Amino acid sequence: PATAVSDRQRADFVVVANRLPVDKETLPDGTIRWKRSPGGLVTALEPILRSHTGAWVGWSGVPDSAEDPEIDGLQIHAVPLSTSEIAEYYEGFSNATLWPLYHDVLVKPEYHREWWDTYVEVNRRFAEAASEAAAENAVVWVQDYQLQLVPKMLRMLRPDLRIGFFLHIPFPPVELFMQLPWRTEIVEGLLGADLIGFHLPGGAQNFLYLARRLAGQATSKGSVGVRAKFGVVQVGFRTVRVGAFPISIDSGDMDGKSKSRTVRGRAEELRAELGNPRKILLGVDRLDYTKGIDVRLRALSELLAENRVDPDEVAMIQLATPSRERVDSYVQMRADIEQLVGNINGRYGSVSRPIVQYIHRPVPRDELISFYVAADVMLVTPLRDGMNLVAKEYVACRSDLGGALVLSEFTGAAAELRSAYIANPYDLEGVKDAILSAVEQDPDEGRRRMRSLRRQVLAHDVSRWAKSFLGALGADTEVSYGPNRG
Ligand code: ADP
Ligand code: G6P
Repeated sequence: PATAVSDRQRADFVVVANRLPVDKETLPDGTIRWKRSPGGLVTALEPILRSHTGAWVGWSGVPDSAEDPEIDGLQIHAVPLSTSEIAEYYEGFSNATLWPLYHDVLVKPEYHREWWDTYVEVNRRFAEAASEAAAENAVVWVQDYQLQLVPKMLRMLRPDLRIGFFLHIPFPPVELFMQLPWRTEIVEGLLGADLIGFHLPGGAQNFLYLARRLAGQATSKGSVGVRAKFGVVQVGFRTVRVGAFPISIDSGDMDGKSKSRTVRGRAEELRAELGNPRKILLGVDRLDYTKGIDVRLRALSELLAENRVDPDEVAMIQLATPSRERVDSYVQMRADIEQLVGNINGRYGSVSRPIVQYIHRPVPRDELISFYVAADVMLVTPLRDGMNLVAKEYVACRSDLGGALVLSEFTGAAAELRSAYIANPYDLEGVKDAILSAVEQDPDEGRRRMRSLRRQVLAHDVSRWAKSFLGALGADTEVSYGPNRG
């Protein structure tokens, strides 16, 4: 089904990700619409796709769909998943086993052999689809934890390809990874790539240790640097490189959009709609238990209870995109958060003005930028996050040097955004202090911090991320990714 490729050109540059960059949506009248997929992976790769012609192999987000939409000249190869594959591969092994395991076991990972079998089966289908889509000697870039077996499977099908893999979530400490009954298969699956990328040097180093210990390979022992100083695993005659490539956003694009008259006007309007409070606090997340949405709500609630924050002066907006709604831990967490919001509003809000505005649906991109421009304090408090693009987006939108960023030290972003108000999300008093410092910051101090944050985010954008990864993979990103005409 995903293979009507024979009459299409094979591509020199192929992205393989669990999700297509668009989700299929069937409207009540039966017409079909494609809308942007949620999450950081798509946010990050979208600008790269605009600048390269190639193919994208992925799942449409709904059962059994094998339609191939074509967007902006990008070839789409949909990999169909049945309802039971969605339950076992996507909701099960990817999001109830690997996701919690790789995020510090915040909820208990479930280990089921049937889920694993389906994960293997679906990874094989992705590898086959990638093999069909790729031209001779093409570059194939495999993305994220859902597809860790694809590099090895694809290499067996197509030894001519150059294969990169990037993990968008944290790579866990060795002690946690060792829980996984299929730990050796995962390490060997990844070792099928020529280059394996992580956000942080620590993840790369954990992986190198496991390649020695579980796969018995010889590896380099020196430390890995950011975008430089790669680790090396010798797999037979092949050399696999392992590196750290912190992902970013299209900072220039967001900076530009945030300066537009319409966005500025809308930001003013939002402030007015909230009754022009002295300070607006903002959270923007997929509704996920890793994001620490409960942490910031608890912190705000205690600050109100202790009269350290005046309910007449503060409003909080929490934008929460629905996510993985059939996975139990997500259902539970949603109920907890909605209860916390209800508690705060019941206790401190008035009829005309609740304290927390909670919006449980995705917000259009331009509207989101207006929220960033309107917010005095951005609350990014994950218990664990591979990077967190929201923190970078906020900074990119503050060319006015206004605003303050409260940032959890357990995000990848905290390694770069040192001038944020950094807090340990497990230390509620510390989070409260950080929020209060951000709310009360001296404007000069705020500008100094924001200037330094912006220097980092504007200089290290997503195109630099892609170039450094593809450069290390030995791929010339400037020239060779047009469709293969040979
Ligand atoms: P994750 O990849 O875990 O979802 P990131 O912070 O890295 O987290 O990326 C999230 C992406 O999704 C960002 O580009 C952000 O703007 C977008 N996003 C998150 N929540 C919303 C929302 N409520 N409405 C619109 N976009 C959102
Ligand atoms: C994170 C993951 C992505 C995933 C996204 C959205 O960013 O790293 O791989 O696509 O969340 O999650 P979903 O389950 O909706 O694809």
